Amino acid sequence: MIDLRSDTVTLPTDQMREVMRLAEVGDDVYQEDPTVNQLEDLSASLMGKEAGLFIPSGTMGNLIAVLAVCQRGDEALMGDMSHTFLYEAGGISALGGIFAHTLPNLPDGTIDPDQISDAIRGEDIHEPKTRMLILENTHNRCGGVALSMEYISAIQEIARSKELWLHLDGARIFNAAIKLNQSVVDLVSPFNSVTFCLSKGLGAPVGSVLCGSVQFVAGARRLRKQLGGGMRQAGILAAAGIYALENNLERLADDHRRAALLAEGLNQIDGIRLIMNTPQTNMLYIEFDSVSPAEMSRFKSALLSAGLKVSISHGNIIRLVTHLGISDEDVEVVVRTFKKILSDQ
Ligand SMILES: Cc1ncc(COP(=O)(O)O)c(C=O)c1O
Repeated sequence: MIDLRSDTVTLPTDQMREVMRLAEVGDDVYQEDPTVNQLEDLSASLMGKEAGLFIPSGTMGNLIAVLAVCQRGDEALMGDMSHTFLYEAGGISALGGIFAHTLPNLPDGTIDPDQISDAIRGEDIHEPKTRMLILENTHNRCGGVALSMEYISAIQEIARSKELWLHLDGARIFNAAIKLNQSVVDLVSPFNSVTFCLSKGLGAPVGSVLCGSVQFVAGARRLRKQLGGGMRQAGILAAAGIYALENNLERLADDHRRAALLAEGLNQIDGIRLIMNTPQTNMLYIEFDSVSPAEMSRFKSALLSAGLKVSISHGNIIRLVTHLGISDEDVEVVVRTFKKILSDQ
């Protein structure tokens, strides 16, 4: 099977499993797991923040950040195409009583700075308090696009002047850094908190890290426990994360190169169009001309029978994601298979 549904499908390699087997462990709820402590320190230093907290998922990282900053009835600003709004099961509202105040995401993953300024509420007692803004880099649903340093700096100015907490959903921040040729520390420095994922392109089986100030992370640690995310001998998982950070960062550029190759091949097939300015990083979105939902679903089944797994994002749009399980040869096979199935139909 060639699985292009997501970079979350990566499997731990033999070397990664070996470091997991050998990991020194302890009870992490007591903060006695040396490997988790090492991962948290390493992550904080890679992000240029004071402290880090190992958490089971990116979803929990974003949720904890919002719960740490907002009271019930407060609001968090975010893009209407953001992962937190679309794909995190409404957790901030269900569990925190926090409003998601959405603003339109532009095709490049940004939100118009003027709209952000206008959306921030004053002291009127009729209105919820606007506590924070969440940005996403790279932006998944806008095509894996990277938000530039210039844009982030402009948003930082607004946030500073209005005392707004800035949280970054940096699930794929390392992909953004490679695309922009910019240091992760610089890209993250305007944000008060950041979540990044180990279990996507970096290839670890589980986990994300939430980083910020010592004080923020102390509060986040309590919330992680409250949500049932306190893990015990989690060093086995943290070891995979350390391995991923030490070995799999630079190779993300290969995923970007393969996404570009895939795009080039698929773009030459009649009836398929690349959309959303993709690929910028490791994802591409393709649209099929005048295809019904039933035909889309038949096409997806035909791909599956030919050994290709893809996900239909929405309507007649498919998202394809490259990752460490996808080789140059796989890219060729994918293009050939798409061609064959479309010509057979
Ligand atoms: C941009 C973004 N943020 C957050 C997440 C959530 O990560 P997890 O699946 O670990 O909860 C994802 C997952 O795909 C994502 O793409």
